[in-house]
Amino acid sequence: MKIFIDTANVDHIREINSWGILSGVTTNPSLCAREQKEFYSTIREIASIVKGPISAEACSMEKEEIIKEARELAAIAENIVVKIPITPDGLAATKVLSKDGIRINMTLVFSANQALLASQAGAAYVSPFIGRIDDIGHDGMGVLYEIISVFENYDFDTEIIAASIRHPLHVVQAAQMGVDIATVPYEVIKAMVKHPLTDKGI
Ligand code: E4P
Repeated sequence: MKIFIDTANVDHIREINSWGILSGVTTNPSLCAREQKEFYSTIREIASIVKGPISAEACSMEKEEIIKEARELAAIAENIVVKIPITPDGLAATKVLSKDGIRINMTLVFSANQALLASQAGAAYVSPFIGRIDDIGHDGMGVLYEIISVFENYDFDTEIIAASIRHPLHVVQAAQMGVDIATVPYEVIKAMVKHPLTDKGI
């Protein structure tokens, strides 16, 4: 399982990237707004730090607008992946963009049916939000398992990103299920490296 960091904080990305364990980055509009920096230059800087896929989200909602915005985002750097929320317009835009070689991360996915549609539209990645499903009293890990088993049935190329990870146990459970990628917040990555017996041993 590859580990991405789920943040737009450049200092945090540099720190975790220096550990040699990072394969990519995901951002979203809320994470970018939190940094209070110019969006395009921040994404460009992140794409220069980490060589793997960097997800930047398109905020448009109508098909042609999504396509225009996605092309602008993809032009920032070769390793940019455009995040598009799953809607009918988002699927239609994904079909067009993926044919042109632009990699799409279909986001705000909360069910196996949504993941199935994203894959058929040509999304390179699909991001089920584990924590937000747990938040409403449902089983986020159960939904992740459904998506993994559907994709395995057909050997789909679309990679699954376990997103909205809230704690280290989510990461272990996602890895046990064999998910392709977990995108993990900075604080959770920091918690993953810690163990009281390691501290005591040192
Ligand atoms: C990742 O792609 C998502 O933007 C992120 O994991 C959402 O996490 P949250 O539910 O904690 O906001």
